Amino acid sequence: MSKSKDKMQSTLVIIKPDGLKKSLTGNILTKLSEGRLIIIAARVVKVPRELAEEHYKQLKGKPFFEDLILYIQGKHHNCERVMALVYQGVNAIDLVRSIAGSTNPEEADPTSVRGAYGRITTKGVYENVIHASSDEKESEREIKLWFRPEEIVVPLYPTLKVTKKNVHVLEWA
Ligand code: PPS
Repeated sequence: MSKSKDKMQSTLVIIKPDGLKKSLTGNILTKLSEGRLIIIAARVVKVPRELAEEHYKQLKGKPFFEDLILYIQGKHHNCERVMALVYQGVNAIDLVRSIAGSTNPEEADPTSVRGAYGRITTKGVYENVIHASSDEKESEREIKLWFRPEEIVVPLYPTLKVTKKNVHVLEWA
C-alpha cells in the first residue's frame, strides 16, 4: 500500500445464473484476475428466496424487485445456482466495481464484465451477470450473509464460539 487513501478491503462478488448458464464463469474470473486480488472464499449456492430478499433488502419496493429476486435465484435462466466469492486486496471494492462495469449493462464500458456479457431484457430487467459490493459497510453485511466464518480462509471479522445443542447436520455416509 502506497497512497494514504489506499485501504485493504474485502468484497463480495456473485456470478449470477446467466453467467453460469452461458459458460462465462472462466471468462469472468479471468477478467477479475486483472485486479491482482486474492480469492479468500468461494462457493456455489442455490439461492433460497429468503437469502435473495435479505441480500437486496434495500431495494424492496422498487418496480424491478420481484424480477431481481427471480433473476438471482436463477428462475429466469432455468439455472438455480450462483458462484459467490470474496476477493481481498488493496482498494478491492472499487477495483472490482471498475472491472465489473456500470450497473446498467448498456452503459457499461464494453471491455468490462457487464459491458461484454450483460444485457437488458425486452421487459427492461438488467441481466448484468455479476454483483459486486458497493462500499465497506455493504461488503461486510454481504460477506457475513453469504459465508460462515469457517468458509473464509483468513480471519476477517470478529467471531464468537457458540455451542449448539440438538443441531442436526448432514455427514457423508
Ligand atoms: S449499485 O451498483 O448498487 O449502485 O446499483 P443500483 O442502481 O443501486 O442497483 C441495485 C441493484 O438493482 C439492480 N437493478 C435492476 N435490476 C433489474 N432491473 C432493473 N431495471 C434494475 N435496476 C437496478 C442492479 O442490477 C443492482 O443489483 P446488482 O446485483 O448489484 O447488479
